Amino acid sequence: MAAPDLERRSKEEMRLLDLGGHVGFDSLPDQLVSKSVSQGFSFNILCVGETGIGKSTLMNTLFNTIFETEESGHYEACVRLRPRTYDLQESNVHLKLTIVDAVGFGDQINKDESYRPIVDYIDTQFENYLQEELKIQRSLFDYHDTRIHVCLYFITPTGHSLKSLDLVTMKKLDSKVNIIPIIAKADTISKSELHKFKNKIMNELDKNGVQIYQFPTDDEAVAEINAVMNAHLPFAVVGSTDEIKVGNKLVRARQYPWGIVQVENESHCDFVKLREMLIRVNMEDLREQTHNRHYELYRRHKLEEMGFQDTAAESKPISLQETYETRRKEFLCELQKKEEEMRQMFVNKVKETELELKEKEKELHERFETLKRTHQEEKRKVEEKRRQLEDEKIAFNRRKAAVEAMQAQALQVTSQQPLRRDKDKKNLWDVRFDLRNQMSVFSGFLCL
Ligand code: GTP
Ligand code: MG
Repeated sequence: MAAPDLERRSKEEMRLLDLGGHVGFDSLPDQLVSKSVSQGFSFNILCVGETGIGKSTLMNTLFNTIFETEESGHYEACVRLRPRTYDLQESNVHLKLTIVDAVGFGDQINKDESYRPIVDYIDTQFENYLQEELKIQRSLFDYHDTRIHVCLYFITPTGHSLKSLDLVTMKKLDSKVNIIPIIAKADTISKSELHKFKNKIMNELDKNGVQIYQFPTDDEAVAEINAVMNAHLPFAVVGSTDEIKVGNKLVRARQYPWGIVQVENESHCDFVKLREMLIRVNMEDLREQTHNRHYELYRRHKLEEMGFQDTAAESKPISLQETYETRRKEFLCELQKKEEEMRQMFVNKVKETELELKEKEKELHERFETLKRTHQEEKRKVEEKRRQLEDEKIAFNRRKAAVEAMQAQALQVTSQQPLRRDKDKKNLWDVRFDLRNQMSVFSGFLCL
């Protein structure tokens, strides 16, 4: 059965009955209030605007206190989000307030990616909440909800028009957070210029399809005031925590040589309107919109990304279990395919390496064979030389022995004939000389 049919049937089955007396469930709203009060509230504000535009001063002015602040330099390499949480109490209501500053916004030469850290921060807070929701053991009751409830976008009071950085950033943020644009340091711009500037800003936002937060007009109690306030956007604000005496009253104001700008004077600026709308009238709506609209959108995209859906083909309802089973099967198939691919890749790699190794081995073997052949050739040559020398040595020894024998003979003849002729003597000396020469040549050759 289709959903509208079901709704109609259940309405038809409901009967309106009169009670005989007081039962007591009319105290439910009171129970809810007392429970909420004891639980406390959380509210998270994101301040986006150029360095020194007056973010911290406005926060101090809004909550009438001095939050810890630290001036940022103009040399941040990229935009960085700095959250700070405070516990505030007014009457018996506890408020856990987180102020997140986009430090270094607008200070980089290349501002193309300035919005990214802000978008990432907002998404991370949604993701944390979703993870808590998906836990088996959830503790959403005491979970510190860090999702951004409102983004105060500080516009520089140029009097001209919005910068492209402002338009790009607001466009990227508008589906993720409630944006309230405000003209900062509104005391630096004249009344007529301010009026034109406001119109220009709203036209530009409209032309570029930037959705800013609209104060809700569906609740009768606040519909009228909210409708009037929507027409005042963007609020032109002045911040100051300095108290200056005006008449006989101390008021928060900024004093100049030509006069005093009173923060809470509605003819001077829109600070009161902002405080009224942001804190006193629409704080709960901002929290609700964050949960029901922005978080819901994030959650839906995320679950769809994970493969979950409410209806299958032909609009048939599909249970979480079925989706889970289908996704599991798909995942396992994918895993198997990946495993097979990786195995095949590994086998191919091993084969390639094996082939390479074989090639290398063959090369080495060939080199070894060549070396071996060269070595054998050298060895053979040396052996031949050695044999040749041996032969020469034997021949020499033979000649030496013959000469020595001749010498001995000659000596013998000399001893028998003491008187010898000069010619014989000369012959003997020649033989000796010849022998000596041959010996020295031979010993020199051996040394070589
Ligand atoms: P960073 O955190 O360093 O980026 O600065 P910020 O945006 O928090 O600015 P901050 O509140 O520190 O103010 C910077 C300067 O602007 C201070 O000198 C403030 O007194 C001055 N200032 C703040 N609000 C206003 C305003 O409404 N009008 C004028 N004229 N000056 C203001
Ligand atoms: Mg600051």
